[in-house]
Amino acid sequence: MTIVERNRAALPVPYAIEIPDRVRKERYFDPGFYELEVERLWPRVWQMACRLEEIPHAGDFVEYEILDQSIVMVRADDTSVRAFQNACRHRGVKVVGGRGNCDGGFTCPFHGWCYALDGTNTFVSKARTFSEHNLQPDEINLRTVRCELWGGCAWINLDGDAPPLRQCIEPFATIMDAWKLESMRAEWWCAFRLPVNWKLAEEAFMEQYHVIETHPQLRIPGRYPPRDGAFDPRVFVESELQYLHTMSDGMDGMVLRDIELPDDPALARTVWDRTLNDAVTSWHRAEGHDLPDLDELAAQGLNEPMAYCFPHFFVLPMYSSASSYRFRPLGPEETLMEIWSLTRFPEGGEPQPLAPPEPWECDDPRVPPIPTQDFSNLPRQQKGLHAKGFEYMRLSEQIEGHISNYQRVIDGFLAGLSSDELLPALRAVNVNPLDRPVVDVGI
Ligand code: FES
Ligand SMILES: [Fe+2]
Repeated sequence: MTIVERNRAALPVPYAIEIPDRVRKERYFDPGFYELEVERLWPRVWQMACRLEEIPHAGDFVEYEILDQSIVMVRADDTSVRAFQNACRHRGVKVVGGRGNCDGGFTCPFHGWCYALDGTNTFVSKARTFSEHNLQPDEINLRTVRCELWGGCAWINLDGDAPPLRQCIEPFATIMDAWKLESMRAEWWCAFRLPVNWKLAEEAFMEQYHVIETHPQLRIPGRYPPRDGAFDPRVFVESELQYLHTMSDGMDGMVLRDIELPDDPALARTVWDRTLNDAVTSWHRAEGHDLPDLDELAAQGLNEPMAYCFPHFFVLPMYSSASSYRFRPLGPEETLMEIWSLTRFPEGGEPQPLAPPEPWECDDPRVPPIPTQDFSNLPRQQKGLHAKGFEYMRLSEQIEGHISNYQRVIDGFLAGLSSDELLPALRAVNVNPLDRPVVDVGI
């Protein structure tokens, strides 16, 4: 019996996942299902609200929007960020919008009520015209939102009873700490408006099964040494370099071309990986970058190519650098996806904060080639899900299991399970999603 079945207080969940490798299509467009996510999922989860380099100086603020909620993220000092519900306590006007600096505090644009950086109300114009009960001092401060810092980002949770951030994002946090995620900075940032449900958008990045068909340029002959037959180390090195070149512009493979590889294919891969790790580690360290020893990460099994943090954040480490994704629903069939390219800089040499991106449509010619290929399937998939005869997705239980695993965690939230019941489920999905089997998340 599952927790949901055992738990009498559990709320009914429509279109719940009953057979783990089948996901009903209504979860991706049914307005009622979407409403349940709005009510019971998003208000209870930790969300990556901004990168810290967006608000480098005291008084810098940025607005984070999730569904119909606007939250102001304000840099208080070097080590802390505060978050407030963005609504004046007079008549509800959003106190600030977008981003900027409010070192002197905030002034509401409607009637000029003022708030300090800590949210305290500091001024009410014509205060004597209000009755006393409407100006109780503890009722006219901006409402605070829980905020914690981790991994170079500020995170918020609208649920006052949720466990602390770290507990909810393990083991993702431990893995990313080993990568020193907090010392990475964004070198570019772009956003895309995708005409699909937020889960469908995320799921395009949760398995590698699609790579062969969707990204033919990553199907590079010789990339993996053959199980039998002739192994040519030079062909192997060239195909590895071609792969790296395709994945990341302009990686210079000149030095690595001279590498001597043993004739045994498995040994050759080990030597290749180690040589590449050493080259990347020593180059970055010579530049003064804070980079972990990539061989040590590999030895600890922490060199995963992707890490997922429920419900909307991904990091894809690649040697010294990483991509990072964030997804937000804009409606049952519309999603905002952002991509940051993160890399390392010497202390004091960090770049200026990036301007927030204007979202591009998913078929915009400026979208880089690999995401273009991923995005090309999405509108067709959202459309296909509506087909009368299509009932559910049939997942490979061995390599598409993460799609089921994290969706069953969503069911746990929709059923109103307690944090104690949800924490083990979160731990089961805050991992590398690629090629994961269906696992028991305890729900
Ligand atoms: S609504 Fe803000 S001062 Fe009136
Ligand atoms: Fe892809």
